[in-house]
Amino acid sequence: MPWIKVLLSQGLALGCLYLLPSGILPGAPLILVLQGVAAAAIGRIVGLSLLWIPIQFLLPLAIAYNSSVPSWVYPAALVFCLLIYWNSASEQVPLYLTNRRTWKALGDLVTAENAKTFVDLGSGMGGVVTALAGAHPGLRAIGLETAPLVFLASRIRLLFAARANAQVIYKSIWDEDLAAHDIVYCFLSPVPMPRMFAKAKAEMRPGTLFVSNSFAVPGQEPTGIKDVADGRKTRLYLYRM
Ligand SMILES: C[S@@+](CC[C@H](N)C(=O)[O-])C[C@H]1O[C@@H](n2cnc3c(N)ncnc32)[C@H](O)[C@@H]1O
Repeated sequence: MPWIKVLLSQGLALGCLYLLPSGILPGAPLILVLQGVAAAAIGRIVGLSLLWIPIQFLLPLAIAYNSSVPSWVYPAALVFCLLIYWNSASEQVPLYLTNRRTWKALGDLVTAENAKTFVDLGSGMGGVVTALAGAHPGLRAIGLETAPLVFLASRIRLLFAARANAQVIYKSIWDEDLAAHDIVYCFLSPVPMPRMFAKAKAEMRPGTLFVSNSFAVPGQEPTGIKDVADGRKTRLYLYRM
């Protein structure tokens, strides 16, 4: 449970600061910054992911200066998070991104399959689509995304990348006809995998490839597994239709 590790590391950081001679300690808010840095470091040691570093760092300052934060900041922050994590509650799919080494592994699959069309179901910030379209000019790379801010960011990214063979569409992954694609890629969560694989089996053409990053389809033997030599030991599960 990350929150237990957050409380533990904040508590340990506070304990460490108490042990220091009071003469060498700075005044507020520097001491709160020190507390945040120590808690972030301890958090990493006890296994919190990188995402928690800014939270760990800001938590002591947020608690201490809570009363001076204008009240509109909280609903604004809530709306901001909602626009990013739009699909977390309904689909139980949060936002985390495919890394560069996995882009390369997916590119190798595109080459090996001689794929002409690729779709990223839930394309996030558009990294996969942009990278594959750049590396494979003959490929049509499509991303589908419905989290409003994430979609907007990916459209801006594509605009700057100027890839004519790439597109990000505001469309639910459940509304796409998967028959149109040679490779269907997803990086979702364990929850939608059985339903998504049933959809893939019903719609994808024989011989085409369904690829799931990290989440195997329960009860379904993959045709192949591609391990990526990255820090998080990414595993791509391959299912030949
Ligand atoms: C784990 S992220 C993966 C992002 C991207 N594929 C990547 O690998 O970098 C999953 C994405 O799927 C999106 N998503 C979840 N359910 C969706 C749905 N029904 N329709 C479209 N996008 C969806 C989420 O908003 C999120 O951006």
